[in-house]
Amino acid sequence: MVDLDQLVSEAKQSFSSTSDAVALEEVKAKYLGKSGLLTEMLKGLGKLDPDSRKTEGAKINAAKSAIEGALQERRQQLADDLLQARLSQEAIDVSLPGRGRGVGSLHPVMRTWERVEEIFHSLGFEVAQGPEIENDWYNFTALNSPENHPARSMQDTFYVEGHDSKDQSLLLRTHTSPMQIRFASNAVKTHLNNYGNLDDMPDIRVIAPGRTYRVDSDATHSPMFHQVEGLWIGKDVSFAALKGVYTHFLKSFFENKELNLRFRPSYFPFTEPSAEIDVAFPSGKLAGRWLEISGSGQVHPTVVRNMGLDPEHYIGFAFGSGLERLTMLRYGVDDLRLFFENDTRFLSQFPA
Ligand code: PHE
Repeated sequence: MVDLDQLVSEAKQSFSSTSDAVALEEVKAKYLGKSGLLTEMLKGLGKLDPDSRKTEGAKINAAKSAIEGALQERRQQLADDLLQARLSQEAIDVSLPGRGRGVGSLHPVMRTWERVEEIFHSLGFEVAQGPEIENDWYNFTALNSPENHPARSMQDTFYVEGHDSKDQSLLLRTHTSPMQIRFASNAVKTHLNNYGNLDDMPDIRVIAPGRTYRVDSDATHSPMFHQVEGLWIGKDVSFAALKGVYTHFLKSFFENKELNLRFRPSYFPFTEPSAEIDVAFPSGKLAGRWLEISGSGQVHPTVVRNMGLDPEHYIGFAFGSGLERLTMLRYGVDDLRLFFENDTRFLSQFPA
């Protein structure tokens, strides 16, 4: 007769040496399977006489249930181990600092846009926006730009197929100046509707920032760029007012009271006289050079007329400045294309 105690401890031994459920079930078959050791022993009982059958039977059954118990225990153990392993694999260390998505920030050109709005707002200018698909009248004709003006050529302008309801050809505005006419003529019309005359019409004082488009692309030109138009029309708005307003603006914008400005004679069809505004920084990387920053001038009488006003009584100034240009000078960026690449290594240098 086999030593049952030995068999039980041998079974326990082999159960605990298995490392997964599949191996355990294979080992189990050796003892408890259909032709396992204990099953065979129980079958063999028939050959014994009734007395020994009883005592032997009891012993074998005791051993069998001891082995079954050990099997159950090992099963549980392996299941627990598996769960534990999974849990620790999937564990999240809540004490780790998060990866974080970072807080986005305003695009540097948009920061300039906001800054410009703030400064002009403080000077009593309204802020207006107009359409980027413009018609020929507002973009050129109303601004006194002759039919053969170079800005109208296919090389400079993105024309859009089709015409508007007034049979005007359509184009992506090449500057924000059409807003001079749109805003002023609207203000004039509204005032006339409300009061019947222009006697007490307040000055028209507006800036119009926005996107503009030209067929142009290099380190300092992009086919899409931003401008801010400024317009002040009233009964007594002189060129000196332009100088005062623009000087205040630039000194505030660059936070630099020592800036020098120069108004250099220039030509635009919609202003007369016209001036290019140049700025010079007293110190720093850009010191000692005159940098062109804006077109400007006294609004041409034809343009004043196209606003619905009598140029004998109304006069004023306008300017158009590039927002990218202002941004480049403020932050020392030397390639305009960086603004449009959306490279976060560049953009993250302008924190919120
Ligand atoms: N519209 C001109 C340009 O885009 C700038 C300008 C605006 C000049 C207003 C004079 C007055 O170059």
